[in-house]
Amino acid sequence: AQRERQAEFDALIEADQRIEPRDWMPEAYRKTLIRQISQHAHSEIIGMQPEGNWITRAPSLKRKAILMAKVQDEAGHGLYLYSAAQTLGITRDEMTEHLIEGRAKYSSIFNYPTPTWADMGAIGWLVDGAAICNQVPLCRASYGPYGRAMVRICKEESFHQRQGFEILLSLMQGTPAQRKMAQDAVNRWYWPSLMMFGPPDDASPNSAQSMAWKIKRFSNDELRQRFIGMLVPQAEVLGVTLPDPELRWDASAERWHTSEIDWSELQEVIAGRGAMNAERIRNRRNAHDEGAWVREAAAEYARKQQARTRS
Ligand code: 3HC
Repeated sequence: AQRERQAEFDALIEADQRIEPRDWMPEAYRKTLIRQISQHAHSEIIGMQPEGNWITRAPSLKRKAILMAKVQDEAGHGLYLYSAAQTLGITRDEMTEHLIEGRAKYSSIFNYPTPTWADMGAIGWLVDGAAICNQVPLCRASYGPYGRAMVRICKEESFHQRQGFEILLSLMQGTPAQRKMAQDAVNRWYWPSLMMFGPPDDASPNSAQSMAWKIKRFSNDELRQRFIGMLVPQAEVLGVTLPDPELRWDASAERWHTSEIDWSELQEVIAGRGAMNAERIRNRRNAHDEGAWVREAAAEYARKQQARTRS
């Protein structure tokens, strides 16, 4: 029977069909989906902090309103993704516990500081831009709940990317000090945004299997190249310089030639030794502790509701 179910699963994947929560799936497929989706959800929730840092200090009411909407979107993305992960048998409490105990991975990109307002532009343009390159193919992930969550998330992500581009554009059309602030933010966020796509293909232990299962549709390096190709013309429109003196299109190899990426930095940040890792987890843990009364009240209310419907 096991062989038949495996054959059925393989046929569904082969035919580019969706695997749904109630379908049989290999334990390893379930495990890698819980790994990737929970880490993706953690990334969205932790990703609220770098931008949240500027909501009270936005330069205008319009910028404040846009930033609040964006941070609120990230919270929603996190909730969709936690719900998608829960369909695989892990609970919300387990995932939250892993995160606040510092045992869960989340995207390295959120462990960098946001010292100036221009960081809000660089994050929107670079981080959300990279997220779009990574997330559009995930709309076709073989696991139904994950692919469907991505469709909604990608629509909101494009708004995030546009507002980031627009912040940088208005700064680049401003005073020399504003132009300098924008270029400085691009210098600080460019390389970490390339690292978001993961290690190079020849150092990516999960890629082969994830691609065989049609969770990952394109390799880390392929998406990184696509992202760079998207950035170059936009950087020209902005008038910012991408901080890689070696960056050029290599026509013979049909790819963007870049300087060596410092993979030890990615490893350090993933290992929890980035500039802001400790603060991000501390903030997340404090929010969880301070929110305990809300969870208790909601549970008590639900219990009373249930008792009422039973009586
Ligand atoms: N930060 C943290 N960990 C990373 C990483 C990064 N930038 N890149 C790779 N890793 C980890 C992987 O999780 C894996 O560790 P694990 O096996 O313990 O999970 C290890 O490094 C090796 O990497 P692989 O390439 O073998 O792993 P994957 O095949 O999972 O590829 C990935 C990594 C491309 C990030 C993939 O997991 C993925 O596409 N995840 C979903 C999308 C995602 O998380 N995007 C970044 C979040 S940004 C965001 O969405 C917020 C936006 O709205 C602003």
